Amino acid sequence: MSFSRIPLLLAFVYAVSSEQPSAPSPISAQLRELPWASGGLNILHTTDTHGWHGGHLQEAQYSADWGDYVSFAHHLRKRADDDGSDLLIVDTGDRVEGNGLYDASNPKGRYTFDIFKQQRMDVITPGNHELYLANTSNREYAEVVPDFKDAYIASNLDIYSAKSMKYEPFAPRYRRFTTKNRGTRVLAFGFMFDFRGNASNTFVQPVEETVNEQWFQDALRTKDVDLFLVAGHVPVRDSQEYDLIYRAIRDVVWDTPIVFFGGHTHIRDFRKYGKTAYGIESGRYMETIGFLSISGLGSGEKDVVPAASPTFRRMYIDNNLYSMQHHSGMNISTFSTALGRNVSQAIHAARKAMHLDHAFGCAPQDYWLNRAPYPANDSLLSLLDQQVLPDTFQHLKKPTIVITNSGAIRFDIFKGPFTIDTTFLVSPFTSGFRKLSDVPYGVASQVLRLLNNEGPISLDDLASLGQGIAAFCTQGSSGTTADTRFRTATCTDRYADAAVRVQDLMPPLPPIGLRTLRGGHGEQQVPLLAVDKPTVPGYTTVDDAGEDGDDTVHQTIQFYDVPNCIGIDVGYATTALVDKPEIVDLVYNEFIQYWVLLALRFLGKTYGKGNTEESLGGKTMTDVISEWVAEHWECEEGV
Ligand SMILES: *[C@@H]1O[C@H](CO)[C@@H](O)[C@H](O)[C@H]1NC(C)=O
Ligand SMILES: *[C@@H]1O[C@H](CO)[C@@H](O)[C@H](O)[C@H]1NC(C)=O
Ligand SMILES: *[C@@H]1O[C@H](CO)[C@@H](O)[C@H](O)[C@H]1NC(C)=O
Ligand SMILES: *[C@@H]1O[C@H](CO)[C@@H](O)[C@H](O)[C@H]1NC(C)=O
Ligand SMILES: *[C@@H]1O[C@H](CO)[C@@H](O)[C@H](O)[C@H]1NC(C)=O
Repeated sequence: MSFSRIPLLLAFVYAVSSEQPSAPSPISAQLRELPWASGGLNILHTTDTHGWHGGHLQEAQYSADWGDYVSFAHHLRKRADDDGSDLLIVDTGDRVEGNGLYDASNPKGRYTFDIFKQQRMDVITPGNHELYLANTSNREYAEVVPDFKDAYIASNLDIYSAKSMKYEPFAPRYRRFTTKNRGTRVLAFGFMFDFRGNASNTFVQPVEETVNEQWFQDALRTKDVDLFLVAGHVPVRDSQEYDLIYRAIRDVVWDTPIVFFGGHTHIRDFRKYGKTAYGIESGRYMETIGFLSISGLGSGEKDVVPAASPTFRRMYIDNNLYSMQHHSGMNISTFSTALGRNVSQAIHAARKAMHLDHAFGCAPQDYWLNRAPYPANDSLLSLLDQQVLPDTFQHLKKPTIVITNSGAIRFDIFKGPFTIDTTFLVSPFTSGFRKLSDVPYGVASQVLRLLNNEGPISLDDLASLGQGIAAFCTQGSSGTTADTRFRTATCTDRYADAAVRVQDLMPPLPPIGLRTLRGGHGEQQVPLLAVDKPTVPGYTTVDDAGEDGDDTVHQTIQFYDVPNCIGIDVGYATTALVDKPEIVDLVYNEFIQYWVLLALRFLGKTYGKGNTEESLGGKTMTDVISEWVAEHWECEEGV
């Protein structure tokens, strides 16, 4: 009965270390050894952390926090000092949006910057989530860039400065530095992919133009560079931006090693660009600490001649104390440093101040987005279309069809407390529901089928149809964003649309089911709760170096195709043929408005945004779910 006591209880059970008090202890699992380069260069990499600096409090495998990462880096730095190698730390953006630690405060991010900056960085870049809102990028520019001094690099990003009244470089275009112990001379860049959803105060220069800038061409001709380090919010695979940069560098210097650090697509990946050029991408949400080492680099300072071909090795470390202690040679009593503990405490204090552990109710079991078939008892989508949506819309008197996209749900629901924090994880979607009144039933009833690619026309066809009718799409709004890397063509209203901002946090509309073994959108790599088994289910990454990249030997997880969209019928009997209404209201999640209107148009009924109105009093999916949970899921004493 007592919601508020749940987190407290967990705290006693798991009070073991410096991770967040309510975090579960990691399960011991078989680990591969860190491919440390003694006497070489070692690099830790994070990307797309999206505010998860408190770690995953319901997933043991990813339960360490940013303070633990600070301690971990300290030990590896010491190891490097001891064996004459070097350690660098890199982050490639999207640090904001996607977790209560960032999103639940007013203003957003009130607590996170002081926490994040405690990890010393050598190279740090912005991501697109730092640029959606003018106030986010302004603050990044005013606070975070100075926090990291010369480590913050922005090779192709400008920001409007109120002081100078013109666009200024967001941060230095590149950085030249020499590593501490080996004297390796590094030239580092920091790129943003060709992003167009930025607010009007920033300017992202297309990479194609940047590589032709004089400063860039001059930088490539810098003498005495042992390594080019290209960090960026850019996928390492299938991205024309990194391919362009690789070619631009190779056009000038044919043999100097290049290392790429990438992000944005939320996957673990390692790609070979050429004999002396490799790139790593280190997942998402603080699940993964990427590690890359290079042996055989030259060191001009110390007159070390480079090896004919240096060795690049990588590892994806699961973010938990078991892994971190193992790889740093520490144990539970020697691992956490004073600074690391301080950072963990600051996170705990912030979570407490925002009441993130307040529980609306307790989930009686796990509900999976992709790890259960649909429909099924443990399918989150079934929970929605069998219980949550029918209960929420049952008050409607008029016959109505309600449709939502599975992408509106971003994360599984785990058995146990469903907290304020959980709402930010499961559905950070801040747009509401829209309604089209009095749509002919014959048309409305086919929309769901179309959106799910069941029928004569696929979403891809619809999308190409969309290209030709941009005017329809932009009508009454201010622009369109076609982010082809997700194969979505989402119409956006740049003023209102928080939906756009979370777009790339979510499984996109079409690709569910379109998985590729490597470099895919990560469906094969969804996170999970470690269970009490000898092997822990989790990432089983296949990349250009093979299948041994994950530090933890994971059990493969079974994933299922689920529909793009689900729908329910309200206010009329679906079985009795005679009762079919002539017209219905069509209610849908605002995020899919573009697709719904496109589908209707294809079916012969043209509506514009002006024909739609707010539904459900502006409630978001997050509100819908948390209210339903509060009403239906009690917490039992002693859970
Ligand atoms: C930016 O504006 C949004 C929307 O008004 C607000 O929710 C957020 O807290 C603001 N962020 C900052 C850093 O001021
Ligand atoms: C975004 O950046 C582009 C250049 O990349 C710039 O022209 C534009 O004004 C910025 N803002 C918007 C809303 O597109
Ligand atoms: C941890 O390691 C230290 C130093 O090696 C050792 O003295 C201590 O006994 C170890 N503690 C545990 C709990 O294993
Ligand atoms: C940790 O925090 C305490 C209290 O704020 C402070 O006195 C101490 O210097 C901090 N330690 C480190 C290593 O930052
Ligand atoms: C699903 O739940 C129903 C009702 O509780 C039960 O009868 C059925 O056996 C369950 N099915 C599965 C596959 O667990």
